[in-house]
Amino acid sequence: MNVLVTGGAGYIGSHICVELIEAGHNVVVIDDFSNSKPEVLDNIKKITGKEVKFYEFNVLDEAKTEQVFIENKLDSVIHCAAFKAVGESVQKPIEYYTNNLMSTLVVAKMMKKYGVNNIVFSSSATVYGDPEVVPLTEDCKLGETTNPYGSTKAMMERILTDVQHACPQMSVTLLRYFNPIGAHESGLLGEDPKGIPNNLMPYIMKVATGELECLGIFGDDYDTPDGTGVRDYIHVVDLAKGHVLAIEKYADPGVHICNLGTGKGYSVLEIVHSFERVNGIKINYVIKPRRPGDIAICYADPSRAKRELGWVAEKNIDDMCRDTWNFAKKQMEKKA
Ligand code: UD1
Repeated sequence: MNVLVTGGAGYIGSHICVELIEAGHNVVVIDDFSNSKPEVLDNIKKITGKEVKFYEFNVLDEAKTEQVFIENKLDSVIHCAAFKAVGESVQKPIEYYTNNLMSTLVVAKMMKKYGVNNIVFSSSATVYGDPEVVPLTEDCKLGETTNPYGSTKAMMERILTDVQHACPQMSVTLLRYFNPIGAHESGLLGEDPKGIPNNLMPYIMKVATGELECLGIFGDDYDTPDGTGVRDYIHVVDLAKGHVLAIEKYADPGVHICNLGTGKGYSVLEIVHSFERVNGIKINYVIKPRRPGDIAICYADPSRAKRELGWVAEKNIDDMCRDTWNFAKKQMEKKA
């Protein structure tokens, strides 16, 4: 298949490109490097031995996006391009709504115009809000989103669902990611956010490298076994493999919704201690107040992914911690 990956140079997009190529697909990428670097494309080539066809611009640019649809005989789209920083989205709601919603509309419009009928959308468990019950199945009620980033994910799901209803020949797949972490085992691809990270694993990574002194753990008084927040962490390579299966198997028209998680919850302290044990590094931490908008527990029921896609997460927490540190060490060597 010829697959367009928007945001294909990003953390998740780049891992998807590798898995698509390794499954024998041709990959076309659009990315504006707003949160990624050109060297990612070289690294995809180092891992797979194959080039992706690359276009540098923001998908908001309708004329340029149309040109990509004209130049390439696309079969499917995996739409990952979006702004994703929760805190920043509160400060810049106009930018977040404009970028995330408009780019989705441009992609949908071009798919309709050029008869590309298969899209996999990069969604998030954030659309469930504060879960009434765990594990979360796809039939659980959608919740209140607590920030503009989360609201854009919920709205993009809505937009694509409505587009599918109007274009019944289309297959729209909404993949709801739980907490993707880890890195490619080569150490060539991973997540290295600019500035101070918002998410747990990138923060731990920067404490391990010495760039940051101490991890703040946001609350130890939740109703969880050790009081710290519990999440369903999923290895980014497992997540990427889920996309390949979704593009291949959800070809029949309709709206397909699928959680991608492991089904197991780990607390913040369990993650910190696994990282320490697997990598032999001490992570300094201090307990801080709860972070506004955080929930106590969130983990997936991934049985639909198993049943419908034949997908199960294969990598465990130790793999996630080891691969993160392997990537971080390679980054440090480069900077030295
Ligand atoms: C966050 C977003 C979610 C988004 C996801 C993307 C919020 C409220 N939610 O999810 O919408 O889809 O990132 O990956 O921001 N933690 C610390 N110290 C830190 C960072 C995190 O203790 O420095 C804790 C958090 O309180 C939480 C856990 O680690 O219990 C995971 O946090 P994080 O990695 O930010 O993910 P989520 O909050 O689950």
